[in-house]
Amino acid sequence: MNIKNKPTKKVIHLHVNGETHEAVVRASDTLLCTLREQLGLTGAKRACEDGDCGACTVLVNGEPTHSCLSLAVEVVNKPITTIEGLLNSPVQSAFVDHWAIQCGFCTPGFIVNCHALITNHPNASEELVEEWLQSNICRCTGYQEIREAVNNLLQKSQ
Ligand code: FES
Ligand code: FES
Repeated sequence: MNIKNKPTKKVIHLHVNGETHEAVVRASDTLLCTLREQLGLTGAKRACEDGDCGACTVLVNGEPTHSCLSLAVEVVNKPITTIEGLLNSPVQSAFVDHWAIQCGFCTPGFIVNCHALITNHPNASEELVEEWLQSNICRCTGYQEIREAVNNLLQKSQ
């Protein structure tokens, strides 16, 4: 390979779950691969890698974001929250209490997304909950238990 064509890497700092992490990335590295392969944060899942399934969802500036479609270099200096940062959060507990889990592969993305829903829209209507849940695909649960977990939390927050 011509040395001029070699992809160059750079050192960046990412603010994840309240801590600053150093990573060495190419311009094309996604946030998902950087979280999983360099920071050891494997909760965000690699599935469609096309923005369709929501398994890779993290929060960037508090907003649900597909980490498979975000570049690591784009989120420097922005607060990022992954499922690891929501350990023992009310949404995680509600998913456990309502058995809103089967294989669990989709669960991190759902919990991150639902945490943003409840934080940003504590008075969310049923329609908004339905719309929000369409961002994540689950092939196991049928969604009813997930819906119940979210609605239970919304009732408590009102
Ligand atoms: S892996 Fe990112 S949306 Fe499916
Ligand atoms: S619990 Fe298996 S895909 Fe959702």
